[in-house]
Amino acid sequence: MKFFIDTADVAELRRWHELGFLDGVTTNPSLIAKSGRKIFEVLEEICAIAPVPVSAEVVATDAEGMLKEAAKLRAIAPNIVIKAPLTWDGLKATRALADQGVPVNVTLCFSAAQALLAAKAGAAYISPFIGRLDDIGEDGMQLIRDIRVIYDNYPWLDTEILAASIRSSDHVKEAALAGADVATIPPKAMEALAQHDLTDKGLAAFLKDWEGTGQTLL
Ligand code: G3P
Repeated sequence: MKFFIDTADVAELRRWHELGFLDGVTTNPSLIAKSGRKIFEVLEEICAIAPVPVSAEVVATDAEGMLKEAAKLRAIAPNIVIKAPLTWDGLKATRALADQGVPVNVTLCFSAAQALLAAKAGAAYISPFIGRLDDIGEDGMQLIRDIRVIYDNYPWLDTEILAASIRSSDHVKEAALAGADVATIPPKAMEALAQHDLTDKGLAAFLKDWEGTGQTLL
């Protein structure tokens, strides 16, 4: 499974990128707003730090406007992936961009039928929002499972399933079990991935016993 980081916070990005296992970055208008920075400036910095696919979202709601914004966003760096919403206009723009060889991440997916449409439109990624479905009492992970089955039924659909709106390390595990190709993980959930009480306790015990030997490794 590929690990993307879901952030527009450059300090967080740098930290996780330096660990060496970051396969991509996703941003959205809310994350850009949270960063408090200008969109082109922050995306340029992100692309320079991490030479991996970086999703940048359009904000126009008509296909023509989306295509104009996409051209400006793509001019930032060659690793920019255009993020477009799952609307008919978003799908129209996706088809046009895919035909030009531009990778598109179709976002705000809440049903398997929507995911099928995005794949038909030539999306490079589909972003089903797990956490937001859980928030309204639905089973977000079931959506990932359903999309996996549908895409596997038609192997010529080469859209990657990018599990989004991830809130916990359990979401990452479940998405991996369900066969998501990618998880885009917010920094807090990324941090939680390595944490286990028994790891902390075990390490403390090993270090205490080691100290008792009076030895050093260096
Ligand atoms: O990638 C989309 C994701 O950032 C949405 O997450 O937590 O705002 O539902 P959330």
